[in-house]
Amino acid sequence: TPKGTCLESVKTAIDTGYRHIDGAFVYFNEHEVGQAIREKIAEGKIKREDIFYCGKLWNTCHPPELVRPTLEKTLKILQLDYVDLYIIELPMAFKPGDTIYPRDENGKFIYHETDLCATWEAMEACKDAGLAKSIGVSNFNRRQLEMILNKPGLKHKPVSNQVECHPYFTQPKLLEFCRQHDIVIVGYSPLGTSRDETWVNVSSPPLLKDPVLNDIGKKYNKTAAQIALRFNIQRGVVVIPKSFNPQRIRENFQIFDFSLTEKEMKEIEALNKNVRYVELLM
Ligand code: A2P
Repeated sequence: TPKGTCLESVKTAIDTGYRHIDGAFVYFNEHEVGQAIREKIAEGKIKREDIFYCGKLWNTCHPPELVRPTLEKTLKILQLDYVDLYIIELPMAFKPGDTIYPRDENGKFIYHETDLCATWEAMEACKDAGLAKSIGVSNFNRRQLEMILNKPGLKHKPVSNQVECHPYFTQPKLLEFCRQHDIVIVGYSPLGTSRDETWVNVSSPPLLKDPVLNDIGKKYNKTAAQIALRFNIQRGVVVIPKSFNPQRIRENFQIFDFSLTEKEMKEIEALNKNVRYVELLM
């Protein structure tokens, strides 16, 4: 992100009322997120305990002995004592080292064999040490979740699974499984992404142009974006919309003053195409 953009956006978000901030080491802006939080605390606008910060363990850091030092590095960058949630960003490991996307001479990713259950035990130790209040996962499917849930001697189960989730990719089966196991789904790309062709499957049509979302929006004097966000929160899915635009940051927060009818919820559910924008081909 361009220098300073993240700092200003997080400050605008906090002023608007947002308290959940979704970050990661690999976004390379955690220093700005931390600065924004600390500035807002210094201003007296919030206390640390009002903020819910989620950090992520990157693929190159799955070996158990790397987990705590990696979280400590994030805390140092943020200049915070703890994160509220620390999650395994993806269920596959890359070769450890300073290269975030290690590739061989043919351009192929260099993977690394690790045991996700051992990584999870190191995550549990971070929680026990007070460095993370809660621990969870991201981009895990049912089988990968079951592997953790069925791990002998499991101490803390994942509280959440962050996955792509929006009206075109509603995740009915995973949502049901997670509900049964008390795992919160945190929906990323809840607005259908920025449609950046370098990482987004743009063959799926733009979510916010959808006629159903726009028609329902007219009834409530809301935008398609607000309808998409309201749909998820009303079915118990946490949303983490991304915007660097102050007006849209505020728009995305104006979703608590109306409710969709059961019929509208069903109409939106029926938009599901089972196609991902974020295919994560790695
Ligand atoms: P911008 O940062 O210029 O606001 P997602 O959260 O699904 O990844 O979507 C993020 C993309 O959606 C960004 O390109 C962001 O652009 C854009 N966006 C965020 N909020 C809105 C909104 N309310 N209406 C339209 N586009 C939005």
